[in-house]
Amino acid sequence: MDAYERVMELAKRRGFIWGSLELYGGVAGLYDYGPLGCTLKHNIENMWRRVYCTEEGFYEIETSTIGLEEVFSASGHLSCFTDPMTTCSACGESFRADHLLNGVVERPDALSSDELGRLLVHHAIRCPACGCALSDVEEFNLMFETHIGPGRGRIGYLRPETAQGIFTNFDRLYRFFREKLPFGVVQIGRSFRNEISPRQGVIRLREFSQAELELFVLPDQKTHPNFERFAELSLPLYSQQAQERGEVETMTLGEAVERGVIASELLAYHIGLCWTFLTRIGLDASRIRFRQHLPDEMAHYAADCWDAEVLLERFGWVEVVGIADRTNYDLSAHERESGKQLRVFVEYETPRRRRVVEVVPDMSQLGPMLRERAGAAAEVLSSLTPEQVKEAEKEGMLRIEVEGEMLELPPSVVSIREREEEVRGEYVTPHVIEPSYGIDRIVYALLEHSLYEEEVEGEKRTVLRLSPQLAPIPMAVLPLMDKPPLVEVARSITKRLRSVGMRCEYDEGGFIGRRYRRFDEVGTPFCITVDYESLEDGTVTIRERDSMRQIRVPHRKLEHVMHNLVLGIWQFDEVVEELGEGSA
Ligand code: GAP
Repeated sequence: MDAYERVMELAKRRGFIWGSLELYGGVAGLYDYGPLGCTLKHNIENMWRRVYCTEEGFYEIETSTIGLEEVFSASGHLSCFTDPMTTCSACGESFRADHLLNGVVERPDALSSDELGRLLVHHAIRCPACGCALSDVEEFNLMFETHIGPGRGRIGYLRPETAQGIFTNFDRLYRFFREKLPFGVVQIGRSFRNEISPRQGVIRLREFSQAELELFVLPDQKTHPNFERFAELSLPLYSQQAQERGEVETMTLGEAVERGVIASELLAYHIGLCWTFLTRIGLDASRIRFRQHLPDEMAHYAADCWDAEVLLERFGWVEVVGIADRTNYDLSAHERESGKQLRVFVEYETPRRRRVVEVVPDMSQLGPMLRERAGAAAEVLSSLTPEQVKEAEKEGMLRIEVEGEMLELPPSVVSIREREEEVRGEYVTPHVIEPSYGIDRIVYALLEHSLYEEEVEGEKRTVLRLSPQLAPIPMAVLPLMDKPPLVEVARSITKRLRSVGMRCEYDEGGFIGRRYRRFDEVGTPFCITVDYESLEDGTVTIRERDSMRQIRVPHRKLEHVMHNLVLGIWQFDEVVEELGEGSA
């Protein structure tokens, strides 16, 4: 069994993840979270909230998962969010054309549909399912289309990213943040992509969870006020140049910005923050790297993008986060499509003087000449450029359209005036830095990086090394044996721990060693055991999962001890010392 099979065997058996709709044969790319998987996922999302909302101060919003056609026409998803597809003429199965050429040609993902079509023919690639001929390659749009309301209704799409819900709310959010930049808004929620033929299990899904930050900044903001925090952090960076040489470079983020490897402090800060999150949840630091997108793989909205990739045994380096510089692409696009201004007014440090040349209508001539149409004509005349007026003077006639009628007027009805004015600032379209996390890939990667097996006293011990803050069952209370006095004490401890808000499992069945193994396997970091000594001196043992060491603590102090252990305030080794002499 490879790592993927080992993880998925455990995930299915112990209630983490399994295929959706298995009762009806299942559907590729759809997976459900069972009781422990759902809790683990929520714990990861809550840790993400802690990093981005509590510590960084960004606010979370929740927007509809269905978007209007106009939204995705503006965002470019209608025209650009496609993958190349070829279909078998006999069995009808469809495939990603570029995937069929993996290992046959270099970088098939960078080729056009026509090139892919030619190469499939040239290399005599046939249907992997039945061996028959494949169709021409066409671009398949990955969005799920739907209709909003009965009948044909309005055309809508399930969102392919959570980001658009933030962009379309920009004007309200700008007001919420009291019209000041920078500000950041996050969203955690489901996204939908109708992947052509997902064959990578839980890695490529048709419905998945994203956690995204859209950070709105002034176009010229390149620095970050807190960059010092990460300036000395050394990370494996696989820039475009490093990819040409084929070697990852490890350097500090400070050096990366100084040498221009990462374009700005702002982008580098978010790479550092991403590293902080991924390692804090417990991904193996030696299996994480940051890879810059090559120019030909950049998404249609991005000017620059760095992926956080994790190493997985079966799939190699897999993208789990994309950190993109989306420039002003989205806000400009929604401004064009909606006709509503999505810009911010930026005041200059000191007001500037500007020479203005304008066309001024002469109402004393227009009034008697045009009567009730004079106002409308004046509006059209003031929108003329000085050049148009000069042209009319040469011709001796000014022609304008007023309320659908062509009018011919003497050029003297306008004059050109020059004046100086004070300008306090200008309207600009904010730029966006976007870290976008795929939560489901992170859940899987964490399971793979956490799972280990070892031999203990001739038996296999399987352990999920999840951190106490993320483990779906952070503690379990076990009476040594299924006997009345032990069971009563253990039950009352469980009740007490639960009453102070701790998730705590109670398990009284079977040999104690077997129960420890069951909890090791689902990542429970601490088992509290009530034994006969407990009845005599009021102490219980706490067993730590990874070291299997046990300490005795007075059970009346358990709430305090477990609170500190689960939140990582105390390490296991520190408990006895922290409780003070004579307490254990
Ligand atoms: N808003 C930007 C955006 O959506 P993306 O690189 O397409 O960027 C971001 O997606 C993250 O979402 C990826 O890094 C990946 O972790 C996750 N993701 C994307 N497509 C996925 C899929 N089909 N299945 C599971 N996760 C996916």
